[in-house]
Amino acid sequence: MIDLTGRVALITGGSRGIGRATALRLAEAGADVVINFVTSQSAASEVAGEIARLGRSAITVKADMSEPEDISSMLEIVGNEFGKLDILISNAASGGFRQLMDASPANFEAAMNTNVRALMLLAQTALPLMRHEGPRRKIIALSSHGSHRALPAYGLIGASKAAIESLVRHLALELGNQGINVNTVLAGLVETDSTKNFPGAQQAFAEVAGRRLVSGLPLSPEAVANTLLFLCSPLSDLIQGQTIVVDGGEALHG
Ligand SMILES: NC(=O)c1ccc[n+]([C@@H]2O[C@H](COP(=O)([O-])OP(=O)(O)OC[C@H]3O[C@@H](n4cnc5c(N)ncnc54)[C@H](OP(=O)(O)O)[C@@H]3O)[C@@H](O)[C@H]2O)c1
Repeated sequence: MIDLTGRVALITGGSRGIGRATALRLAEAGADVVINFVTSQSAASEVAGEIARLGRSAITVKADMSEPEDISSMLEIVGNEFGKLDILISNAASGGFRQLMDASPANFEAAMNTNVRALMLLAQTALPLMRHEGPRRKIIALSSHGSHRALPAYGLIGASKAAIESLVRHLALELGNQGINVNTVLAGLVETDSTKNFPGAQQAFAEVAGRRLVSGLPLSPEAVANTLLFLCSPLSDLIQGQTIVVDGGEALHG
């Protein structure tokens, strides 16, 4: 059994979707959790309430991952509340579904700042809190098949995900010998608030489900959270700088 008792985890975008499922999985395993959100205060508080009922500590922190000052303030709060950080999950993302031919410089900057720059700033700002004795600390970022494929209206997010995977490898190079594992979880298509509203979503969900090679098992936020839990645990201490795919084998078809 994975036991994260005594570990402190920060999950950006922990109010909804995969982030929410991960916050709950880590708390079930014993971790205390910092739930970051930017607009969904009540959803974040609900997650914190569920975690408190599990007997773990949870706080919510409003901070926009595209704003360096917000990232600094958030880590200051983590330091004041818990005095350390063991697990950092860079999950929050934005970018919108639009053609590259319609994207403005502001659209490009928003996607890159929220999705990519935030990971670097989070790692930099969290490092003093992650430099402590004990089990190896874990930094994990979220990616998608858009990092290496061409998907309709996904150019901005896809490019940001390719950059995230590269940042993760380079962070592993810099932090690996300081007691920190840095990895990426690449999830297949999961039904969440961000995906269920894109054009043709229902058809895409059905097509992807038909390509999975796991006897009809659904790819839920909780299924992705299970892989994140594994990567947060000592069971994955020898996995370093990798991109782990959780898609039920859907992409094997090419
Ligand atoms: N769903 C999929 O099919 C899929 C597949 C592969 C990878 N992923 C990746 O998995 C991650 C989570 O996706 P999801 O589908 O679970 O998303 P989601 O349900 O839409 O939730 C997005 C979360 O990110 C937060 N967020 C958005 N912009 C933010 C910002 N600027 N600062 C701080 N928080 C911000 C939201 O906070 P508020 O609630 O406050 O708005 C929310 O908690 C993303 O990195 C996504 O690219 C998703």
